[in-house]
Amino acid sequence: MDNRAIGIFDSGLGGLTAAAALRELMPGENIIYFADSARVPYGAKSRDELLIIARQDLELLSSFSVKFIIAACGTVSSNASRVLESFPVPTIGVLKPGIREMSLIPGDSPLGIIATQASIRAGAFRRELERLCPGREIIDLPCPRFVPLIESGHTGADDPELKEAVEHSLAPAKEAGIAALLLGCTHYGIIAQAIENFLGSGVKLVSASHSAAQAAKLWLEQRGLTGGSGEALYYTSGDAGEFSAAASRLLGREIRAGHLPPMDIK
Ligand code: DGL
Repeated sequence: MDNRAIGIFDSGLGGLTAAAALRELMPGENIIYFADSARVPYGAKSRDELLIIARQDLELLSSFSVKFIIAACGTVSSNASRVLESFPVPTIGVLKPGIREMSLIPGDSPLGIIATQASIRAGAFRRELERLCPGREIIDLPCPRFVPLIESGHTGADDPELKEAVEHSLAPAKEAGIAALLLGCTHYGIIAQAIENFLGSGVKLVSASHSAAQAAKLWLEQRGLTGGSGEALYYTSGDAGEFSAAASRLLGREIRAGHLPPMDIK
């Protein structure tokens, strides 16, 4: 038994999809969530910047004495896996759990991956899926328009700007006849309905956030490290009022986030 909190971080709202999945799977755990909203989007940053950002976010959460960290960010997971693996607090990203679930999709139709520009550029999602599913066709697509739209509130499945961006970004995946699509950026779970409306319900959507929450549960249970009182604290490096309003809308309950000073890349 270990009552310390689980730390979760992302560039903004996306990691809330992992926090919500974890809350559902492990309602008794305490959560500390950090949204680095002052530096969103991570998907437009260089690998060198992401290596620094990953370390800073991990150090910030470890200052809260967390027992475990979920890097609820595909961009950090695919660009800074060594930083995550070598950090003294046990940490998982969303890449490996999401890809493992994708590798179980039966049949031989192509598999799709969508993620940020920096994630697709890093190639780690594709490499890991190729390793587990040799010979299977993989379509990986960057969707740089999604995160700015989601962060600015364009999340409704009927939002015209979002619909246009989804259709434009996912047309190659639809044409290829994919069997499943990995939402390799945690923000994308927030617009899953718009994505499903375009691709059709025959395409299975795999949430990397949900896979990571399941992997975290397994890890903690296997080591007897579960425990807590079901509390959650939220922090942002951006505007606390704006983040609280958006998070409350997404999670369906009132969230009051605290503000933490933005960090510099140095
Ligand atoms: N939600 C993050 C991810 O999973 C970061 C998106 C961004 O800030 O560009 O990649």
